Order: sequence, then structure tokens, then C-alpha cells
Amino acid sequence: MKTLLLSAAGTLALAGAASAQDLEVASPHGDLVVTLSTDGAGRPTYAVTFEGETVVEPSQLGMRFAEHRGFQEGMVLEEKDRAAADESWEQPWGERRIVEDRHNELLVTFMDEEDERRRFDLRVRVFDDGLGFRYEVPKQRSLRGEVAITDELTEFVLPEADTTAWWIPARMWNRYEYIYEETPLGDIHTVHTPVTFELGGGTHLSIHEAALVDYSGMSLTLGRGNRLEADLAPRADGPKVKLEAPFETPWRVIQVAEDAPGLINGTDIYLNLNEPNALGDVSWVEPGKYLGIWWGMHLGTQTWGSGPLHGATTENTKAVIDFAAEHGFSGVLVEGWNEGWDGDWYENGDVFSFTESYPDFDIEEVADYARQKGVRLIGHHETSGNITNYEKQMEAAYDLYERLGVAQVKTGYVADGGELKRVGEDGVAHYEYHDGQAAVEHHLTALREAAEREISINTHEPVKDTGLRRTYPNWISREGARGSEYDAWGQPPNPPEHTAILPYTRMLSGPMDYTPGIFKLRPEAGEGSPPAYPGGEPRPDVRTTLAKQLALYVVLYSPIQMAADLVEHYEEKPEPFQFIKDVPTDWEESIALAGEVGDYVVIARQRRGGEDWYLGAVTDEEGRALDVPLGFLEEGRTYTAEIYRDGEGADWETNPYPIAIESREVTSGDTLDLPLAPGGGAAVRLVPAQG
Ligand code: NOJ
Ligand code: CA
Repeated sequence: MKTLLLSAAGTLALAGAASAQDLEVASPHGDLVVTLSTDGAGRPTYAVTFEGETVVEPSQLGMRFAEHRGFQEGMVLEEKDRAAADESWEQPWGERRIVEDRHNELLVTFMDEEDERRRFDLRVRVFDDGLGFRYEVPKQRSLRGEVAITDELTEFVLPEADTTAWWIPARMWNRYEYIYEETPLGDIHTVHTPVTFELGGGTHLSIHEAALVDYSGMSLTLGRGNRLEADLAPRADGPKVKLEAPFETPWRVIQVAEDAPGLINGTDIYLNLNEPNALGDVSWVEPGKYLGIWWGMHLGTQTWGSGPLHGATTENTKAVIDFAAEHGFSGVLVEGWNEGWDGDWYENGDVFSFTESYPDFDIEEVADYARQKGVRLIGHHETSGNITNYEKQMEAAYDLYERLGVAQVKTGYVADGGELKRVGEDGVAHYEYHDGQAAVEHHLTALREAAEREISINTHEPVKDTGLRRTYPNWISREGARGSEYDAWGQPPNPPEHTAILPYTRMLSGPMDYTPGIFKLRPEAGEGSPPAYPGGEPRPDVRTTLAKQLALYVVLYSPIQMAADLVEHYEEKPEPFQFIKDVPTDWEESIALAGEVGDYVVIARQRRGGEDWYLGAVTDEEGRALDVPLGFLEEGRTYTAEIYRDGEGADWETNPYPIAIESREVTSGDTLDLPLAPGGGAAVRLVPAQG
């Protein structure tokens, strides 16, 4: 294995390295090697090998501008600096408390062979489980004034033979809310990241980005042959990105793992490539579990807007608060509390008020009632995609919530892709993508304003996660994929394999507010008619078993987890509900133990600051008998395993309810056998036995 000598202390400049020479940087364990070079036309390139096998063939780098000469060809490569890191840091909340950051770094310059003042730097960091690189473009004569990026030329050329891809389309009307496709590499279109691949030899790769700030989100589009090309979301006013030099792009990240669980275990790379916490003391950011006035609207038995079925009444909310207090939940989300929902709320972006409540919702009284009960009201701001209307009211809206002790706000941007409304200073409306530069900027404005008032944000119809929760720990969760709501009205609802794909795709980027815990898996008379959701259809069957709903609390990480179903449905089934009451949402450690993309996954997590472990396993439409070795438990200790698994005859399609709840004593030397029904799952709580 070729590795370069690194100075452990940090930098080792090799001034004047020959420009025609390839430059290499390897991961700390040496298995992952990135080579930078230029091709015959002087185009900047990079390539990647893993355990000696090519995982990214020579792929182009560069950028084009509207008014300035681009970085495209005729360039020479020079080494600038090397560094290495071996450190760890503590998260305020997360999948694990301590994050290790071990990487080797190479900084190079690509410069115009005729004019060396025209140049960009590329910073490459290689970790044991992936790599990131970003463009760092210095101030320079040839990039004066506003710089409009028309195209980022970054490519990811993957080996074509037998490469399978899991992806959702990008630049389409439904943003990130699509059913995942599994296809050969050659059959993908323009796709969102994270996009995940299994190469012919079994190596798994996922491509995504980190620290998306002041730039447009990167999708990938399939070019000639097997070239995946960066495809930045365009701004409404023409180019992809507008900025001024000096500037840095987000990190382009390639996770590389020997197997599918390795991808899940390697996601710290996104956090490590983001800047440290910019908010100081964030002890006010509170992980927790919540209930809501929510599912009823999706079922069509309640409405967001005013009228006889209005869900967000003072009375209804107090009843949910009572139940939340009794069962140890920390929050109650109330949607439809504010003026603006009447009529087709998809079209109400201009009229939503974020400070005025409907007359039958006394926000002061409700917030007070919640406080007395030790529960917090969770705020809600649906913008219907009008970011200007929201920004205008933002300060007043967050002031109100701060005064009422509301520490978390769920926001929503329901609007078709490319239809986020932003009104410029000149009064002209521009329609932007959810992952375009304007949206990226809007979300950071919201986070900063919220942080000043110690409020955390849970964004629905968001921009994708790129690890910014490290810098802004008040970005507590987000949606950004099909969640449970599709099980109320989606045609089709989420297929059984959906939650066996998410952990290897969307979830690699960070927490998701999936809102699991649906206990009533079949529609009842009256639900879904009239359809709850504009464009929705009468309610379909939920395509999971009951046990699988419990497993999702462990499998799909979020520091805030909703128990999404109606209170009465939990009251009907107190035994399985106990698992939702017990499961924590903040973790000391998380380990993906087994799985295959789209087939199944087994994840174990230990409570933050605690000794109990939780295990979740879900499968696709295939039933399977899993043997799970419990080697992650502390050696020599006996644990009581409380097992919630699919019962006799359980099947997502024909019989979703049977659940077996049983207890066993186990130790780290034991193997737990977990039978999963078709479309099923298992949830296990492992508590050290007394004495
Ligand atoms: C879409 C969100 O995902 C859902 O949770 C919410 O209820 C509706 N928008 C209304 O804001
Ligand atoms: Ca949604």
C-alpha cells in the first residue's frame, strides 16, 4: 500500500513539487487513497482507490463562470500543504456522544499554466471511512466583482460493471419525497444526494456533501457513460450560485465502506467536515419525544383550517397535553393553530400569520397549561413555500414563542420544487428550489434568529442535511424524505422496503423527523373522506407490522421523535406503547450491526449517559430470521431483554397487528434470534439486571 509520509505535528510544505506529478493522500489506515492529477488537456482530476481497487476512476474537477474565465483546462497542479488530525470532540446531542476525527489532509493548487495568478485550491481530507474535498477559490484579478457560477464541473466516475444505485430524483416537483429506486448505475437520472451505490465487488459508496453554506445544493446527473456530474440547483435569476471571491464550496463527500452497515457507521465524516458549534452554550436544545395535533388532519378526521373539525382547539390541545404529561412526553406539537389555513392552504403562502391564533385556540392559556404540566408546546410555522412572508414575520413570531416558553418550532415549506417564493427588494417574485442558494441562506437566517431566542428548528420540506447541526445544534431535525404522512394518504403509501433503504441513503446525512408510531394500521370509517390533504386520496393501508413501527424509533435516528398516532390508539394498546415511552432519543453510542441496502437493517444504540441499550431491526417485504450477536453489551453483565417482535402470523399485508412481547436474561456472549415477519421488525430494550 502506498502512503505518503506525513508530519504528525501538522503541516509539511513541499514547495515547488513538480506540476506534472500526481499527488496522493491516503487515509490513516492507508486503505483509501486519493490521487490528484491533470489529464492531457490540463483538466484537473482526482481518482480514488479502496483496498487497492479503483472506486472512483479519474474524474474531472473545475468550475465555469458567467462573466469570468473558468477553471477547466490548461492547468497545472502543485502541492501546497499537508496536515493530519487525530482528535475527538463531544456532541451536545447525537447518535454518539464522542466523535473521533482522524484524517489526513492534502492542500493543492491548480493554476493556469499561462497565468499562475488564475488558480484555485483543492483541500482534500481522507478519513478511514470516506473522503471530502472542497474548492477554495482565493481572491484574484481574474475574478473581480460578483462571480456567477454557471456550472461546477466535479465528476464522480464510478466503475460501471455491476454497480447498483439507490436514488430519488432531483429537481422534481415533490422535492425529496419520492420512493427510492434501485437500478443499475446506467439507469439513473438526475438524483439527490446522498445517493448510494454497491459496486460489483461488494464495496459500498455514498456520495453527498457537507457544510452547504452560501452555495446551491448538489445533485448528480448521469453524463456520458458512467460519469456522474455535479448538477447544482439553479437560482431563479439565472446562474447556479452567486458570490464573491474568496469563496469555498461545500465539501464533496464520498463515503466508502466494505459493506452496507459500514456506511451507517461512517457518517461522522459529515460532522467532522463542518465547523464547530457557533452557538456556545446550547443546553437549551432539548432532545425528547412528542405527541401532536397532527395525524387527525392527515387522516381527514380533523382540519388545519377553522370550522367544526378544527383540530387545534384549546380543549383538544389540553387533552393531548394531559396524555403527554401522564406518559412522560416532553412536547405537544400543534398544527393549524394560526390564521391562514382556510381554503387550499397550499396556496396560502402570502396570507399565513405566524403571530395570530384562531379564536378557538388560546395560545397563552395552552402554553401556560403545558408549562404547569411539565410539557412544552411545540410551535408550528407552515409557510407554503413563501420564504419572504416568513422572513418578514420571523422576529415577531419567534419573540412570541420565546415569551410563551416554546423551545422548538416545526417549520414547513410545502411548495413544488422550484416554487419557493422569494420577493426581491424590487418587489419582484422569484421562484427558487428547496436546495437552491436562496433556500440555503433562508434556513441559516431562521436558525440564527431562532438561536437568539433559544429555539430549535425542525424543518419539513427542508434543504437536505449536510451536517450543519454541528455548527448550529439548534437545527434539531428535519424531514427531507417520505415520512409517515404518506401512510395516511400517499398513493402509494411507503412500501415495506422504504425504511430498509432510508438508513443507507437519506439517514446518512443526519436525523429525520419521520414521525413513526402508527398503531392503527388500517383505515377506519370516515377517515380520508374528504381527503385530508389537498391532492390526497382516501387512506391506504399502512405497509408495516405493529412491531416494525416500534423498531423505527431505534432505526431512524432523530433527537426528537414523535409518537404520531392519535392518543386513543395508544390507549387501546398500552403494552406496545410502553416501548415508545421507554426508548430514549439521545445516544451515547450507535452501531449498525447488520443489513443490506433495501433488504434489512439492525441497529443498536446505548442511551446517552445511561447503561441501557436499544436494538431495532426492520425488514422489507421479505420475512427473515435474524441472529443478532449481543457483543456490544458490557462483558460479564446480565441484561434483561424486553423483546417486542412480530407475533404468530404477522404480515404487513394480511395481518399487521400480532406482536409478541417477552423478556429474557442475556449477556454479551448470547445471540438473540429475532424472527421478522414480511414487512416486519423488532424492537428490544436491554436493561442491566439488578443485583
Ligand atoms: C408537510 C409536513 O411534512 C407535515 O408534517 C405537515 O403536517 C404539513 N406539511 C402541514 O404543515
Ligand atoms: Ca412533507
